[in-house]
Amino acid sequence: MSDYAALVADTRATLERIARDFTPAVFASSLAAEDMVLTDMILRAGLPIRIFTLETGRLHKETIEVLDRIKETYGHDVELYKPDTSAVDAYVRNNGLNAFYDSIDMRKECCRIRKVEPLNRALAGNKAWITGQRRAQSTTRAALDVQENDEAHGMTKFNPLADWSEQDVWNYIRANSVPYNQLHDKGYPSIGCEPCTRAIQPGEDVRAGRWWWENPETKECGLHVVDGKLVRIKAVPVA
Ligand code: ADX
Ligand code: SF4
Repeated sequence: MSDYAALVADTRATLERIARDFTPAVFASSLAAEDMVLTDMILRAGLPIRIFTLETGRLHKETIEVLDRIKETYGHDVELYKPDTSAVDAYVRNNGLNAFYDSIDMRKECCRIRKVEPLNRALAGNKAWITGQRRAQSTTRAALDVQENDEAHGMTKFNPLADWSEQDVWNYIRANSVPYNQLHDKGYPSIGCEPCTRAIQPGEDVRAGRWWWENPETKECGLHVVDGKLVRIKAVPVA
């Protein structure tokens, strides 16, 4: 078996194990390429894992269109979790619609209202949740494991694509005709909210277009907290 075939087989086995041993489990999909690999595996195998998206109210139209592609391809409706309207209204009234450009605190507060609080609602009552994070995506994910204990949410967290490269993701998408966000063909390898994501130049880091005005080591939105920290930078062994 090739390395790629073994990776796919391992990932399918992880998802089957989650469905068997960690019910109820949910998958948080940002509708980007990695998450489409997992969506395809879950829906083609008919696994009893709910799929949801945090619809922040600031997503690109190309991202929203993926919901229709999923419905057409798999006959499945992704569940949407939206922010609390009064919290969004208060933030905009007090700080302005795009106050997240003003400071890291303002940015994190917007992410808290539009992503973190809805995520907590989506995860409540589950035994495990699944993400599409990969180790190679950023310095903040260098020590990511396939299975983790998510103390913040009191459940097990799975990152089944932790070992995958970007090339593996695209091999899977092409080989299985998986629908994907059109922004990936326009220079966006990583996609978040529209005002906080831009296209990257050839040779730039895959997450360079996310919160591009911030330092790479602060660029996490609060969805992925470990040991009370947002990031997991690999410890450098002391010589
Ligand atoms: S993040 O910085 O936004 O957290 P990224 O876009 O790299 O990171 O996404 C990593 C993983 O977080 C995704 O694979 C997905 O599991 C989850 N995620 C991110 N954004 C969303 C979203 N809007 N809805 C649901 N899950 C999301
Ligand atoms: Fe707000 Fe930007 Fe975070 Fe989206 S990514 S929730 S728009 S700060």
